[in-house]
Amino acid sequence: MEQLSVDHLLGIKYLSEADIQLIFNTADHFKEVINRPIKKVPSLRDITIANLFFENSTRTKLSFELAEKRLSADVINFSASQSSVKKGETLIDTVNNILAMKVDVVVMRHPNPGAALFLSKNVDACIINAGDGTHEHPSQALLDAYSIKEKLGELKGKKIAIVGDILHSRVALSNIYALKMLGAQVQLCGPKSLIPKHIEALGVGVSTDLIQTLKWCDAVNMLRVQNERMDLNYFPSTREYAQLYGLNAKKLGSIKKEIVLLHPGPINRGVELTSDVADSKNAIILDQVENGVAIRMAIIYLLVAKLNIPST
Ligand code: CP
Repeated sequence: MEQLSVDHLLGIKYLSEADIQLIFNTADHFKEVINRPIKKVPSLRDITIANLFFENSTRTKLSFELAEKRLSADVINFSASQSSVKKGETLIDTVNNILAMKVDVVVMRHPNPGAALFLSKNVDACIINAGDGTHEHPSQALLDAYSIKEKLGELKGKKIAIVGDILHSRVALSNIYALKMLGAQVQLCGPKSLIPKHIEALGVGVSTDLIQTLKWCDAVNMLRVQNERMDLNYFPSTREYAQLYGLNAKKLGSIKKEIVLLHPGPINRGVELTSDVADSKNAIILDQVENGVAIRMAIIYLLVAKLNIPST
């Protein structure tokens, strides 16, 4: 069986193009499975997976849990806000106590950049990063790239724009790594205050002009303004942000071409996207969510294959 080059999914940065293609090919198979009347396969019957969420989540948490259940794994869920973390327990102690219950895989979302890497070096389990602060969100980038590929065909040579709060976005960094690795051209767009300095070094274009960016691209990923991570005022007002960097039907109409629209969710309706655009035929936001389950089934299946656990 073809295998991934990594033992954990910590970030797209650590994957090769062959790894991504293997994940996509495996996801194709699982997408077919989850569209059958019987959506479950027995592949991970003897595997136990813990989902550790130290930050809020709807899509990622439910999507991982569903992916695990579709693969017949045993699943336990942990939410920091209802746990002994509140009594001062450290991350390593928390995870080692969970692992003592014979857990094989840990899926973790954490507010600190590097938390998943730290865990992988300090505990004995396969670690999947479900978002570490402003750093990476690898499963999101994989499902985004897979969804664009499904809509546009190969990504090689395609022009993909990422618009909005790049500075605080783990989705942006993981998307840049994945899309560039797959041969796409990437342009970032947003107010200067929300574009990290020297980001061009990653081989991406940068623009502060939304209309120019929309005219340039084949697909646009509209990022959420991450108010919860902002310790300063990065733009004068939400209204002004929406006027300059929000997408509405008038702006889309003015570019006189069709482009594919993505958003990782949750959407601030009326800020990044007006509802008519978010719910339009070119928006693949719910396709992203559907594909997320197949992509996460592929990630978990391929990483568990590397654990060499004898099947019963
Ligand atoms: N896209 C994403 O990470 O959404 P959640 O925060 O709801 O998981």
